[in-house]
Amino acid sequence: MADISKPVVKLDHSSKVRGQAVYLADHPMDGVLVGKTLRSDRARAKILSVAVPALPVGYVVADWRDVPGRNGVCIIDYDMPVFAEGTVEFIGDPIAIVAGPDEGEVLRILEEIRVEYEELEPVLDMEQSETEFYNFGYEKGEVDRAFHEADRVYEEVLETGYQEHGYLETNAIQAVVEGEKIRIRGSIQCPYYVQKAVAEVMGVPAEQVQVVQDVTGGGFGGKEDYPSILASRAAVVARKAGKPVRLVYDRREDMAYTAKRHPTKSRYRAAVKDGRVTAMEIDVLYNAGAYKTLSMVVLQRGTICANGVYNIPNLCVRGRAMKTNTVPCGAFRGFGAPQTFFAAEMVMAHIAKDLGIDPLAFKVAHLAKQGDETSTKGKYHFPVPLQAMSEKLVEASGYWEKRKRYVNQSKGRYRRGIGCSFSYHGAGFTGTGERDKIKAKAALEKRPDGRVEILTAGAEMGQGIFTTFAKIVAKELDLPLDRIIITLPDTDRVPDSGPTVASRSIVVVGELLRRAAIRLKEEWREGECQRVEEHFQQPDWQIPFDYATFQGDPYPTYSWGAHCVEVEIDTYTGEQKVLGAWGCYDVGTPIDETVVIGQMEGGFMQGIGYAHMEQMNYDHRGRIRSVSYSDYTMPTAMDVPKLEILLHVEKYPEGPYGAKGAGELPIVGVPGAYVNALEQAVGANFCHIPVTMEDTLQAGEGAGA
Ligand code: MTE
Ligand code: MOS
Repeated sequence: MADISKPVVKLDHSSKVRGQAVYLADHPMDGVLVGKTLRSDRARAKILSVAVPALPVGYVVADWRDVPGRNGVCIIDYDMPVFAEGTVEFIGDPIAIVAGPDEGEVLRILEEIRVEYEELEPVLDMEQSETEFYNFGYEKGEVDRAFHEADRVYEEVLETGYQEHGYLETNAIQAVVEGEKIRIRGSIQCPYYVQKAVAEVMGVPAEQVQVVQDVTGGGFGGKEDYPSILASRAAVVARKAGKPVRLVYDRREDMAYTAKRHPTKSRYRAAVKDGRVTAMEIDVLYNAGAYKTLSMVVLQRGTICANGVYNIPNLCVRGRAMKTNTVPCGAFRGFGAPQTFFAAEMVMAHIAKDLGIDPLAFKVAHLAKQGDETSTKGKYHFPVPLQAMSEKLVEASGYWEKRKRYVNQSKGRYRRGIGCSFSYHGAGFTGTGERDKIKAKAALEKRPDGRVEILTAGAEMGQGIFTTFAKIVAKELDLPLDRIIITLPDTDRVPDSGPTVASRSIVVVGELLRRAAIRLKEEWREGECQRVEEHFQQPDWQIPFDYATFQGDPYPTYSWGAHCVEVEIDTYTGEQKVLGAWGCYDVGTPIDETVVIGQMEGGFMQGIGYAHMEQMNYDHRGRIRSVSYSDYTMPTAMDVPKLEILLHVEKYPEGPYGAKGAGELPIVGVPGAYVNALEQAVGANFCHIPVTMEDTLQAGEGAGA
C-alpha cells in the first residue's frame, strides 16, 4: 500500500454487485413477527379513543401504555414520543403497532382499529407557526453602517423544497428481548444512537441493549435519527409479544413518514458599495415539522454557512427552525447547508448580473482566503484553494467561451446556459461536539495469526469506509489488505467511535485508526492477541466555539467544492437537459481515488435532482403527496450527463495522510450552478428549487422567449 490514493476493489463490492449481500428484509421470518404501524390520519388532533378488535392468538397491539421507560425517543431532545399519547402532531404520527405471524392478518387487524379524534387546527405554513423550536444568530462587523453607506441594497426571498433520500433500502429494524438483553439489528447509520434511545425507552442500562448493523442500502442522513425511532417502537412491541418483531417499511410508508430535507425560506438583504458586497443581513426559516429530531444541528450548520464561501465583512444572520404539523425533517447529506448555499449563490449571481458583471468573476472576487475570519469569527487556518479550483473548472468546462456564446442566442426552440457555484463543508460535529459530546474511540485487535480486526461503530452504507479504513490500517502495519478484518458494527464488540454522519469517518475515526496502527506496530508481539485503542483529541489551535454567541471555529478545517453545469432547455416543453457537469473538489488526500470520485459523482447527481427534478409537497391537510418514485422523480442512470470530477489536494495535517471529509461536500453547492445555468438559458432569474419544467416555461414567457 505505497500510495494510499491508488484505488483497490471495494471490499463490499462483490457481494453487492452479485446480489449476495443480505439485507434485513432478506432474512427468513422463522419465528419473527411482522409489525405494521397504526398512524394518525389527522395533522393535529386529540385522541379520544382507540378501539382494538378482539385479537387472534399470537397477535399483539402495543401503544404508549406498553412503553416501560420514557415515552420519548432520545435524539437531541425527547419530544418525539415512541407512540402518541393523547395527541397527534402530524399525519403519520404512530399511535400503535400491530404484530403477528401473518402479514395479511396484521393488516386486517390494523384496518379494524377505530380511532376517534377531536380535530384541532393544524399549522402547516412555517411562516404562520408560533412555535420556534430553535433560534440561532450571530453578527459581526457594523451591519447597519454598511447598509447606510451602501450604493445599492438588494433584497431577495429564496425558497428550497423537501428532498427525499431515496436510499435503495427502506428503513428496516428487528428487535427481540431475550431475558435481560434487548437485541436490535437493521439498517442503521449510528449504532450507538440507537442503543441509547432504546435503553431509555425500555428503562434499562445501555449495556443491556445490543445494536448490530445489517448490510445497509444507503442512508444519506435519513438513517441518522429514524432507526432510533423505529428501534424504540420495535423493542416495545417485541417485549410485549415475547418474540422477535421486524418492522420493514414499504416505499410509500418510508417516503411519507420518515425524515427528509428541511424546506427553507430565507430573506437575504445585501449591501453593495463600489462593486463589492459589504454586508448581508440574512433570516432563514427551516420547516422542522412536528418534532425537533435533528433540527438543532441542521439549523446550526445551515446558519453558519449562510454567507457561502464569501468574505462578507459585515454580517447578521438569524436562523430559526419552526414547528409545523407536518412530517419531521431530519438530516440529509449536507445537513442544512445545501439550503443556505443555494440562497447565497443565487443572491451573489443576481447581484452580479444586475451590476453587469459575470457571476463567476463576481464570486471569485469575493472568495474567502486562508487566514480570513469565518462568518463566526473563527479562522480559515488552512489553504482556501477555490480560486485555483475555479481555474481548473473553467478550463475543463470551457466556461468563458460558452458563457459568452450563450448570451446572444437566436430565438430558437433550444437555448443553452452555463453556470458555476462554490461551496465548502466542514467535517465532524459543529463546534466542540467531537470533543465534548462524541469523544470518539476506535480500536484494533490483533489475532494470534497476525490478522488485525478494525473495531469502530462506523457504518458502511455505500460510501466505502470498509475499504478506506482497511487501507489506512494495512498501510501503517505494512500488511496486505486481506490481513485486515472489518465487519458490520456490533455495540457488544466495538467501542463508540461516534455516529456515521457529518462526513467524519475518515478524518476523525480514520485518524484514530492510523494512530492505533502505528502503536500496534510498535508494540507488535508475534503470535499473541493484542488490542490498542485510541481516543479523539481536539487540535489545540482551534478557536473554541461558543454555542451561545456562535463565535469561534465551527470546524477545524473545510473541504472545498466548485461546480459547473451546462444545460439546454426546450422552450416548447420546458424540458431541461444537462449537457455537461464538472466538479472540482478538495477533500485533502483521497484515501481511495475511486471511492472519492464515486462519492463526488453520486453527490453531484443528488444535487442535480434537488435543483430541478425532485418535487415533494403536502396537501391542504398536511399529507405528503409524492410517495412513490413515479410521483417523485429522482435522477437515474439515464440522467447522468457527461460528468467530470477533478480533484485538488490541500493536505490537512490532522487527517490521515492529509485527508479531510468528503461524503457530503459534493451535493452542497450544485443547485447554485445548475440554476445559474438555467437562468442564462431562460433569460430570467429564479429564487427557488426545484425549478420544474413548468417554472421554465412560465419564466420563459415572462422573459419574452
Ligand atoms: N454515500 C453512499 N453511497 N451512501 C450513503 O448513505 N451518505 C452520505 C455520504 N455518502 C452516503 C454516502 C452522508 S449524509 C454522509 S454524512 C457521509 O457519506 C458519511 O460517511 P463518511 O463519514 O464516511 O463520509
Ligand atoms: Mo450525513 S446528513 O451527516 O448523515
